[in-house]
Amino acid sequence: MRTQVAIIGAGPAGLLLGQLLLRAGIDTAVIERKSRDYVLARIRAGVLEQGTTDLLDAAGVGGRMHREGQIHEGISLAFAGRLHRIDLRSLTNGKTVRVYGQTEITRDLADARDAAGGMTVYEAGEVTIADFGSATPKVRYIKNGAAQELTCDVIAGCDGHHGVCRASVPPSAVQLFERVYPFGWLGVLVDQPPADHELVYANSARGFALCSMRSAARSRYYVQVPTDEHVANWPDDRFYDELRRRLPAQIAAAVTPGPSIEKSIAPLRSFVAEPMRFGRLFLAGDAAHIVPPTGAKGLNLAASDVRYLAQALIEFFGERSEAGLNAYSTRALARIWKAERFSWWMTSLLHQMPEASPFEQKMQLAELDYLCQSQAAATVLAENYVGLPV
Ligand code: FAD
Ligand code: DHB
Repeated sequence: MRTQVAIIGAGPAGLLLGQLLLRAGIDTAVIERKSRDYVLARIRAGVLEQGTTDLLDAAGVGGRMHREGQIHEGISLAFAGRLHRIDLRSLTNGKTVRVYGQTEITRDLADARDAAGGMTVYEAGEVTIADFGSATPKVRYIKNGAAQELTCDVIAGCDGHHGVCRASVPPSAVQLFERVYPFGWLGVLVDQPPADHELVYANSARGFALCSMRSAARSRYYVQVPTDEHVANWPDDRFYDELRRRLPAQIAAAVTPGPSIEKSIAPLRSFVAEPMRFGRLFLAGDAAHIVPPTGAKGLNLAASDVRYLAQALIEFFGERSEAGLNAYSTRALARIWKAERFSWWMTSLLHQMPEASPFEQKMQLAELDYLCQSQAAATVLAENYVGLPV
């Protein structure tokens, strides 16, 4: 078998890259180790920057997102019993974000790929990559018990943090930067109206809490928990009780509890692998970097990597120019590090650090107070939250 671009991973990065290349007439094969149903059932991110929605439009999959997604013009910060709104729109010359679940994006992309007849292999076993130092890299995998080999011009490693692509690079060729936080987010999805019409990020002495949503009828809530916590210890009643204790009174009163339709714990981590190109292998999305979710940047960063990589590949196959491919890693990393900084800062501002001294807790509260008083400080938050230029 032969293709031009072998894409490893059918998450949002892999499927979006596949769709952009397909529309440019470039042949692709997407190789995914899980089933289609499993991939489509994963509950993850929910907030999209304008640049991400523009790219989904460019990929021809923005229709349902425009009909069903919600535009948000602000977010609120809650701390010390106070609630303060950050007006994203007025602080950023009219920019906003869109609330539309990653699950829906993945479904829209997978449906569009199927409709266009793009090749996707789900449930591919024992995926390995080879020869990416040459002009004819190979992808090998097992499908229905039979060994398969795919020869390609380029491999796109869109296989997430635990994928095979980054792990196939010699350790001496890649530099890793990492911070692991001593806590995670316990998330609950529930079919009840959200507590507020916009997102509320709460710093409380009991730990961070976030009131988010997927629609006017579906809420997504998170509370900070220790890394070694287990979902089984958190029946719904305990979750809502803890959530409410971390919120200002008027928001707590507006939380409508209901049976959780999903409940999981995600660890928090900052991680970057440099570079993102190894011969004919290019990493994109979580395969190359992880941000703690506090700034809602994970999915948006995957999308901006894909934008750069798709442009570079279209140039490569169309004009036989390697200029874009040569610039890809540097260009993507410049944006990634700024999103890493913002996500680390938002995390530090809003969470209770187990080792924090009373002095450090006062510093958090002073910074939150400053954000409420200073337009300059609020603008820094807002311009990062809506997304830095691509
Ligand atoms: P992924 O979505 O991880 O997709 C990678 C794909 O590759 C997967 O389908 C995987 O099955 C496949 N794969 C892996 N290994 C192989 C292999 N060897 N062979 C073939 N296929 C393989 N971001 C936010 O902004 N907000 C959030 O609330 C949020 N919550 C999150 C919760 C969790 C539990 C996780 C893990 C991430 C969360 N994120 C969140 C981050 C966001 O979801 C990711 O940044 C986004 O999914 C990145 O997309 P991706 O396509 O790069 O990677
Ligand atoms: C959601 C996740 C985030 O990390 C975030 O900052 C905002 C919203 C969400 O899942 O809805």
